[in-house]
Amino acid sequence: MRLLTSLATLCLLAGPAAADSFETIKINAGQALFDNECRRCHAVDAQDASYGPPLENILYRAAGSYADYDYSIALEASGIVWTPAALRAWMADNAGFMPGTKMRHVGIQDRTVQDFILAYLTSISQQDNSQISD
Ligand code: HEC
Repeated sequence: MRLLTSLATLCLLAGPAAADSFETIKINAGQALFDNECRRCHAVDAQDASYGPPLENILYRAAGSYADYDYSIALEASGIVWTPAALRAWMADNAGFMPGTKMRHVGIQDRTVQDFILAYLTSISQQDNSQISD
C-alpha cells in the first residue's frame, strides 16, 4: 500500500496538469484492488454470473435493488442508497454497518485504498445521478 500512497502523492505534487492521468491511475489501481478484494464474488457486468450482486452502476443505486439477485432481508430492507460515504462504511466494516448482511466481512480501513476502489466503482457507474446528493 505504501507504493500506491507514494504514487498518489507524486501525482498530487505534479499539479493540475496531471489531473486526468491521476484519475486514470486511480481507476487502474482501483481495478487491481477490486480484482483482489471483490472480484471473486462480484461481476461488474450484469451479464456475467456472480455469487454476489453485480456492481455495475452501483454508485447511487438503491441497496438491494438488482432484480435478479436474492439479497438478505437486512440489505433489501435497509433503505439506503450507495453514496460514496455508504460505500466507504461498507468497505470498512460491512457486517458492522449492516448487521445481518450475507456478504462475508471485509475490512478495508485504509482511506486511500477506499479512494481507489471508489474511483473504479465510479468508472463503472455511467448513469446520470445529478439529482441525487451524497
Ligand atoms: C466472499 C464474497 C464477497 C466478497 C469478497 C465481496 N462481496 Fe460484496 N457482496 C457479497 C454478497 C453475497 C452480497 C449480498 C449481501 C446481502 O444480500 O446481504 C454483497 C453485496 C455487496 C454490495 C451491495 C450491492 C447491492 O446491490 O445493494 C456492495 C456495494 C458490495 N457487495 C461491494 C463489495 C466490495 C466493494 C467488495 C470488495 C472490497 C466486496 N463487495 C467483496 C459477496 C462478497
